[in-house]
Amino acid sequence: MLNLEAKAAIVTGGSKGIGRAVAAALAGAGADVVICARSEPETARAAAEIGDVAAGRVLGVAADVRNRDDVRHLVETAVRELGGLDILIANAGVGGGFGPIDEIDPEDWHRVIDTNLTGVYYCCREAVPELKKRGGGWIITVGSLAGRYAFAGGTAYNASKFGLLGFSEALMLDLRDHDIRVSCIMPGSVDTYFNDKEPSGESWKLTPADVARTVLQLCEHDRRSLPSRIELRPSRPRRG
Ligand SMILES: NC(=O)c1ccc[n+]([C@@H]2O[C@H](COP(=O)([O-])OP(=O)(O)OC[C@H]3O[C@@H](n4cnc5c(N)ncnc54)[C@H](OP(=O)(O)O)[C@@H]3O)[C@@H](O)[C@H]2O)c1
Repeated sequence: MLNLEAKAAIVTGGSKGIGRAVAAALAGAGADVVICARSEPETARAAAEIGDVAAGRVLGVAADVRNRDDVRHLVETAVRELGGLDILIANAGVGGGFGPIDEIDPEDWHRVIDTNLTGVYYCCREAVPELKKRGGGWIITVGSLAGRYAFAGGTAYNASKFGLLGFSEALMLDLRDHDIRVSCIMPGSVDTYFNDKEPSGESWKLTPADVARTVLQLCEHDRRSLPSRIELRPSRPRRG
């Protein structure tokens, strides 16, 4: 079994959905984890619930990844409380801005791009110096199949996730000689609270645990090879 004892991790968007499952998986493997989300009470509650049953420590920090000061505070807190940083899971993301271009509210456009793309840049910008101090580590971004395959009405979301894929691949090339392993997981439909919905319970969908398992597999992957882009699909998607 993977042992991440003495590893320190940040999971953005860790209060629910994919991020929460990833935080639980990392902490279950012994890592100490700081999660963040915008809602302070939800972040604190999730950290306490995950920490109650995990091997590693779990702390919650309220932070909006669109705000550079919040992100600085998040990384500083993780480094101070956990003694350094080995793993960044840049997961926080939002849907929205779906529809024809002439109906998209500019506020929605900026919310999607600022969260899904600029927010990841801010997190990596602050985390990379800390990962370098440790002599290596992992950055795993949570993209989407929508970052490779466009759909009608998806201009804002597609742009954010296509951008994130390009960002992640360039970052991988920049950092691999520092032993910092950058991978972008691109899931299809996952049963979460995404886009302000409740989980539907539909069995054909991926679960947050499916994505979390992929994160653990990346952390234990043989160091000679690097899966840099992972398309994770429901094996029998419901169509239409
Ligand atoms: N669900 C899918 O089908 C699917 C498919 C492919 C990719 N993804 C990607 O997976 C990632 C996670 O989504 P999910 O499905 O797990 O959604 P979710 O259940 O809605 O969870 C999103 C998490 O991100 C946090 N968050 C949102 N905006 C944030 C911000 N500005 N700063 C900090 N935290 C923020 C939310 O908490 P607060 O609201 O309190 O901030 C929550 O913890 C996203 O990047 C999404 O694009 C999802």
